[in-house]
Amino acid sequence: MPPQVRIELYSDTMTKPTLEMRRFMCDAEVGDEQKGEDPTVNRLQEMTAELLDKEAALFLPSGTMCNQIAIKLHCRPGDELLLDRTAHPLNAEGGGPAALAGVIVTGLPGERGVFTSTQVKAAVRPVSRYQPKTRLVSVEQTSNMGGGTVWPLQTVRDVCTTARQHHLFTHMDGARLLNAVVASGVSAKDYASGFDSVWIDLSKGLGAPVGAVLAGSKDFIFEAWQWKQRLGGAMRQAGIVAAGGVYALRHHVERLAEDHANAQVLAAGLAEIPGIALNPADVETNIVIFDIAQTGLTSAVLLEKLVACGLRMSPVGPVKIRAVTHLDVSRSQVEEAVQIVRQVLRG
Ligand SMILES: Cc1ncc(COP(=O)(O)O)c(C=O)c1O
Repeated sequence: MPPQVRIELYSDTMTKPTLEMRRFMCDAEVGDEQKGEDPTVNRLQEMTAELLDKEAALFLPSGTMCNQIAIKLHCRPGDELLLDRTAHPLNAEGGGPAALAGVIVTGLPGERGVFTSTQVKAAVRPVSRYQPKTRLVSVEQTSNMGGGTVWPLQTVRDVCTTARQHHLFTHMDGARLLNAVVASGVSAKDYASGFDSVWIDLSKGLGAPVGAVLAGSKDFIFEAWQWKQRLGGAMRQAGIVAAGGVYALRHHVERLAEDHANAQVLAAGLAEIPGIALNPADVETNIVIFDIAQTGLTSAVLLEKLVACGLRMSPVGPVKIRAVTHLDVSRSQVEEAVQIVRQVLRG
């Protein structure tokens, strides 16, 4: 982080491995991951498959690679992928679905990142030689740009049922699935059931330095392995980094509740500042998105002033800002963040 930043709310990807995690990583047993001989990677894959109740899982360098491999496997060139208009593969993966899978992506107008089965049904194209085949529907749990919104279990189930009825594959981008689990009390396996593929990120709120794990059927993961190899994502003694994920799954899941509570404090404080539009009731997990249009400032200008005071957040539009709580942000830092925003806006 830039030297002047003391309070880092830019993203939960900014977490640094704790001392205990580093020690655990240091002691990890390792082997050749490409040959399936790294015991720590294998352990992490088993833990994830069990957590999500899928037959198999695959350790990958990033969540982006999980999304891209899944899209590639579910679709053929010319097919259509349905997801929310704010979703990561559409907006933040370098055009990967088009570049790598030759897929047309349609962004559905969900409510804070959550669309409905009715919207899926309306979007599925009729079978016609003129139209692309609608092949895959993807759900982002939680919705990042929706503001950390938790997809309700019933909505997830309805979307999966509708997808099945129309012979679509289903994919869950579970970058923050465990935030949804902790916030709602619904198990990861209940959220994941009904999806052909689902993945979790280790390097966000869970606090590991690298990696994500993609899960699905044995056949799906067999095919995913080939793409991992093809894309150069197969590694060697990767247990060193996978150990961060094993540690995180054992020790950093329940504590996500602290991040959610801190996000509540942040949202309540920000909502009281004149010029900021934000409904704290919309904040369900660790992401707070607020509108600053009434302050007369742009995000870029305000963010620069905040950084000068030691606080970093991220822009999500010309007058919208996102703040994300995580492992490396304390309650007192969140309280201080509110004071800094208040003072800066006071001028
Ligand atoms: C919802 C969502 N999906 C996918 C990704 C990509 O994950 P990674 O940074 O591990 O590639 C992110 C990263 O911010 C994300 O927020």
